[in-house]
Formats: sequence, C-alpha cells, structure tokens
Amino acid sequence: MAPSDKNLPDKKLLRALAGETLSPPPIWLMRQAGRYLPEYRETRAKAASFLDFCFTPDLAVEATLQPIRRYGFDAAILFSDILVIPHALGQRVWFEEGSGPRLEAIETAADLATLSATHLHERLAAVYETLRRLRAELPAETALIGFAGAPWTVASYMVEGGSSRDFAHAKLWAYQRPDEFQRLIDLLTAATADYLVAQVEAGAEVLQLFESWAGVWPEPAFRRWCLEPAKEIRQRLRLAAPAVPMIQFPRGAGALYAACAAEGGFEGLGLDTTVPLDWAGKVLQGQATLQGNLDPLVLVAGGEILRRETARILGALGNRPFVFNLGHGIVPETPPEHVAALVEQIRAPR
Ligand code: CP3
Repeated sequence: MAPSDKNLPDKKLLRALAGETLSPPPIWLMRQAGRYLPEYRETRAKAASFLDFCFTPDLAVEATLQPIRRYGFDAAILFSDILVIPHALGQRVWFEEGSGPRLEAIETAADLATLSATHLHERLAAVYETLRRLRAELPAETALIGFAGAPWTVASYMVEGGSSRDFAHAKLWAYQRPDEFQRLIDLLTAATADYLVAQVEAGAEVLQLFESWAGVWPEPAFRRWCLEPAKEIRQRLRLAAPAVPMIQFPRGAGALYAACAAEGGFEGLGLDTTVPLDWAGKVLQGQATLQGNLDPLVLVAGGEILRRETARILGALGNRPFVFNLGHGIVPETPPEHVAALVEQIRAPR
C-alpha cells in the first residue's frame, strides 16, 4: 500500500481532494512561508542566495515548518521555487533583491540546444532530501504538498529573462516559430513530470501545478501551451503515482477554467481571486474539488472586509468539496495576526 493510502483518513486535505465535503474545510495558503513572517526573514538571512536557501535542506525544512507551527495549517508546501527547473536544465538563474528573479534569457534554437535534462535529479537532490525530512517531521495530520511551475509559466521566465509585463518575447516566439517553441514546452513537460514523480518518491502526498500566467492567451494558444502540457503531466503522474492527487492552478484562465475542470483530469482546481463564486459552484464544483480564492490584499486589509469575504467564500463553496486558500500568494505586507484571524474564522464552529 502506498504511504498516502495509509494516511488518507487522517489528513483533511487528502480527504477533500478525494471528494469529501468537510466542515470546516482544510486550509493552507499559497506562499504561506515568506517575508511576511519575521522568523522567515531570519532564516532567509542565513543563506547566501535565494537558490542556496532552496537547496539547503536545513533551511528549507525550517521555512516550510514555520507557518505550520504558527497556524497549524492542514498542509505544508515544500519551500522551493518554480525556477529550480530552468536552473536544473542548465540555465543561469538568480534572484535580485527588489527586482525578483533573473535568468540569462534563451532566445534562439541554439540557446535551446544548451538546455539538457541529463543532470536534472542530481541538481535537484537537495529538494528531494528536504521532502524526505519534512515527511518525517510533520505532524501526522498535516499533508505535504510538492509543486512545480507549469511549462508555459516557467518558459515565460526562461524566454523573458525574468518577470514580464506583456510576455512579448515568449508569445512572439510561440506565434512565429511554434515548432521550435513546442520543443521548449516538450522539454519542460517531460522534466516537470520527472521532477514531480521524484517528489512523490521523496514523500510529497499532493502536487500543485502553478500556471501563474495562464491568463495571457487566446483560446487556441491556451489549449496548446497550457492545457495540453498540464493534461500530459497529469497523465504521466497518474501512471507513476496513481494515488497522489493533483491541484491545477491556472491563474487568470477566466471562462477557460471550465475547460480545465472538464478536461484537465486534476482532482483539485485552484481559483484565482477574480473567478465568480456562483459560476464556479455551478460549472466547476461538480468536476473537481475547488480551492481558493480570497484576495491576498483582503488579507492585508484585515478586519470587517476580511470577515465578510471569508464568509462569502465559505457560504458559496463550503457546502461541497472545498479547500480554503487565497486566489494568489500571500504578499510580504501581510500582518501575521490577520492570518491568525483568518484561520480562527475558518475553524470556528458554524
Ligand atoms: O508557497 C510557499 O510557501 C512555497 C514556496 C514558493 C515560493 N515560490 C517561494 C518564494 C512557491 C510555491 C513559489 C512559486 C512561484 N515562484 C511562482 C508561482 C506562484 C505565483 O506566485 O504566481 C512563481 C511565478 C515564482 C517565481 C518567483 N519566485 C517570483 C516572481 C519571485 C519574486 C517575487 C517575490 O515575492 O519576491 C520569487 C521569489 C520567491 N519565491 C520568494 C519566495 C518566498 C521571495 C524571495 C525572498 O525571500 O527573497
């Protein structure tokens, strides 16, 4: 029996993703480990660089556990980043204070040829070690989430050389030389599937695929560059790890969330903040366990608007399979006591 079968009854996140309606629903928050926590900033200061932080199991385990200790979330998410994949494929990746991630941009077929998955697992070995230690250290009721960026989102950083306003380089590459761009997406699809399988072997019990930039494409391109790779990764994991549920987070997909729910094959679907809840309840919730979608800035605001928005989401989605989360990651300005108030409200008897 796979380890996740044995643990299924104890872990609320696994039960919700298996289709159970739980009251209160499980809660975890994207970017629950991060700069809004003073203890995170202290741990972060011990690493020479952000990638060193991700690749030092002592520090990554500590950062993962900090929000669990403080708030008792129902799940811990591996402390790492989606950009460890370009690094493992041989691209130069670094993080600059204030300006976010930077990469030596790939622009041509010749640049593509410099990338290789040959050393993938050896370059990511520290991540697997972090997962093994977390699985041993986490409380019995806390599920361990592994994750990766979806191929298009990761490709966008690789081609733009960092964050981007309009994704012009990456989109023009896809429109003008689609066969070449497909090779990049295929490389990422295969590497991401291999990486996620290895995360499961190291102890991850749930996997989330972050498609943070799903919302920039017309439908045909969304299907080719976002939905097809996600389906392929889902299928590869189903073969290698049939008991492990997966959450798709196609942020900004709009009406195409319906295509994700119908065709993606994911047990969980992460809603961004803009998805209307009535629509989500009617169109999506019969097909997947929904997760989301509190506005991270409502969590910064706190007080009455936080109580009202939390109640609105619970009221709309909480009577069917649901996982409470934000619609995107926690921002550094978030007061830690607002997170405590949110968890308290979710868990208050209703
Ligand atoms: O959720 C967690 O607590 C787990 C850790 C996690 C991080 N990044 C840590 C991190 C996860 C799941 C991610 C995913 C990630 N990384 C995404 C997808 C989700 C999303 O936010 O859309 C993306 C697009 C990235 C790429 C990335 N990494 C950016 C754009 C940045 C800079 C933005 C910022 O907040 O500085 C990062 C850096 C990063 N990744 C930080 C953390 C805690 C902050 C770096 C620091 O501490 O100095």
